[in-house]
Amino acid sequence: MNNLDRDLRVLVLAPTGRDAELISDLLTSKGIRCEQPGTLAMARIEMAAGVGALLVAEETLTLPEITAWAAQVALQPSWSDFPIILLTMSGEVDEESQRRSLLRKPLGNVVLLERPARPETLVSTVQAALRSRRRQYQMRDYLAVQRLAEEALRKSEKLAVVGRLAASMAHEINNPLASVTNLLYLMGQSGSLWECQEYAQTAGRELARVSEIVTQTLRIYHQTGRPELVSPAEIVNSALNLFRARLTAAQIVVQTDFRECRPVLAMGAELRQLILNMIGNALDAMRTGGMLKIRVAASSERSNGSRPGVRVTIADSGSGIHPAIKEQLFEPFVSTKGDTGAGLGLWVSSEIVRKHSGKIQVRSSVSPPAAGTVFSIFLPERPHFESRVFFARAV
Ligand SMILES: Nc1ncnc2c1ncn2[C@@H]1O[C@H](COP(=O)(O)OP(=O)(O)OP(=O)(O)O)[C@@H](O)[C@H]1O
Ligand SMILES: [Mg+2]
Repeated sequence: MNNLDRDLRVLVLAPTGRDAELISDLLTSKGIRCEQPGTLAMARIEMAAGVGALLVAEETLTLPEITAWAAQVALQPSWSDFPIILLTMSGEVDEESQRRSLLRKPLGNVVLLERPARPETLVSTVQAALRSRRRQYQMRDYLAVQRLAEEALRKSEKLAVVGRLAASMAHEINNPLASVTNLLYLMGQSGSLWECQEYAQTAGRELARVSEIVTQTLRIYHQTGRPELVSPAEIVNSALNLFRARLTAAQIVVQTDFRECRPVLAMGAELRQLILNMIGNALDAMRTGGMLKIRVAASSERSNGSRPGVRVTIADSGSGIHPAIKEQLFEPFVSTKGDTGAGLGLWVSSEIVRKHSGKIQVRSSVSPPAAGTVFSIFLPERPHFESRVFFARAV
């Protein structure tokens, strides 16, 4: 017997005379598989293995039996609504018949068939019950496929995160490792002990940076650090200080506009990383000088119940974002910088913003004289932190 045959069996329980046998013969002659479990307790055991419907004579149902069935019915999975065809006694609607109808209420999906039932009526009622059971099985199979697909998706998402993590780490440690290779080569070529010591010291510093990057990058966390109250303006200031030398060398004029605003609850290190990513990109877009304007001001996000927060706007007069990548800007590995860009900065930044339940938007133009890019980041004062797997990237 294959699974479907088993799942569509009809259990026939009619203890009086040869009823069960006659009914089974009739249904079998119509291609319906029947079994006679003998007792309701046996029928319940069979039900666990898969049954299409139960055809049962009303007199079999005692109160304890109904209670036991009701418990089983309540335990059905969400897709199941097990059909029961109840062969009722004929006669008037009286007190006794009403008592019986109340009694069978907990049995769930019950169809009544009054005896004596015509053979065609009996067969068509059973067929209808089996049709509905077949649809329930379709739903069961659909849900099982859904579950498998969801699991596969979850696994592939986890793998993707690990892949990105590895790519990001490789990207970050590539430069210091190249320096170390270079320094080792120079040491081999040098005849001076003093020079070799200098090279060795520099190589040591580069390796320390590699180890720092690895530690920092491997910090995969489900929201470990604690959120703290931070001032976005202070973070912007400290980030600008870090870039001071590059800004001066590239002849970039910086204009800041810090308005009065309240601190926001945030992961400080991540906000710093976010701002550094944005300023780094702006600098890359202004190789031959330009203007960098950063504004920090109190704001509220109208689209989401007027949440109060802070908006950081970073505008540069650089090259503008290449139209070919605009659509995928926040996806990983999207870059126009060749070997010098991994295309992870904006992806990581958008993850940070999302984790802080904020919003990041961009406007950009590549046509001079209006060429340039504006990133606008809204950070709510009191974010609801998502606890999803996330990695911090070394900066
Ligand atoms: N301010 C900007 N002006 C012009 N183009 C930008 C700007 N910011 C981002 N882009 C474009 O978006 C791409 C993706 O930026 P992203 O920061 O994600 O990666 P990346 O800077 O190329 O590499 P990484 O940040 O990983 O070192 C960049 O390569 C660049 O083409
Ligand atoms: Mg970048």
